[in-house]
Amino acid sequence: MSSEDDPADGWFPESVATDYDDPGGANAPEVVTSAVDVLEDLSDGPVLEFAVGTGRIAAPLAARGVPVSGIELSRAMAARIADKPGGDAVEVTIGDMTSTRVAGEFSLVFLVFNTIGNVTTQDGQVDVFRNAAAHLRPGGLFVVEVGVPDLRRMPPGQDVVPFAMDHDAGYAGFDQYDVVTQRFTSNHVTVAPDGTGRFRRIPFRYVWPAELDLMARIAGMRPKHRWADWARSEFTAESTGHVSVWEKAPHHPHEAPPLG
Ligand SMILES: C[S@@+](CC[C@H](N)C(=O)[O-])C[C@H]1O[C@@H](n2cnc3c(N)ncnc32)[C@H](O)[C@@H]1O
Repeated sequence: MSSEDDPADGWFPESVATDYDDPGGANAPEVVTSAVDVLEDLSDGPVLEFAVGTGRIAAPLAARGVPVSGIELSRAMAARIADKPGGDAVEVTIGDMTSTRVAGEFSLVFLVFNTIGNVTTQDGQVDVFRNAAAHLRPGGLFVVEVGVPDLRRMPPGQDVVPFAMDHDAGYAGFDQYDVVTQRFTSNHVTVAPDGTGRFRRIPFRYVWPAELDLMARIAGMRPKHRWADWARSEFTAESTGHVSVWEKAPHHPHEAPPLG
């Protein structure tokens, strides 16, 4: 954490927000467009992004005319939204997606880029599902994009999985797992040519696809789609991530409302 960082911004303070929108990777136009295409297609009225960040997805979605709201913990991240085309139209509430309520009823709530894992307890992740359901109209959809836990790459006796090693850039990245708590940390080591370094460690909780289905059920939602990616490829045993969609049970006039 650097001196300009506000601890209230959590793991995404000013020093992280400042280069979050750098070109490439998750910010590559084709990556953003493929997610925005699917979300626009699934929406049918106002949408809400949990952990909207700098508006990487919310702003281009709003630029297409979709009414977009967002909840975000970090003021430093949220401050970047309005600078993007479409960003002015995004209604942002600073708060915690496990509990913060915004006014309105939504056709779609979405939580992308592995961010369900930023909530590091199972109870907290269930609260995210309950809060999503509370914002949805009957028949509304909740979309989560998250990686499949990478445990198959970890031999017995080892707790670390490297995911990047770039000698030229002076960068090494690795995850460190605790299979008892399902917590893991993502670790980023950067060394500048003068030998000075930075070590960033971000805590997560990994969560299995079937566990997410159970959380959805607890919150009164049922599975609708599970794709391997935003191109809606088939989800298979080899998929490294998924885009999952659950539907809030529609209300029938003679039926009791769903549990949860
Ligand atoms: C990896 S970024 C994703 C941002 C954006 N959704 C995107 O796709 O670029 C994770 C974001 O989640 C936010 N965040 C983490 N935990 C949160 C919580 N409990 N409630 C709201 N936002 C949260 C962080 O501040 C950060 O902006």
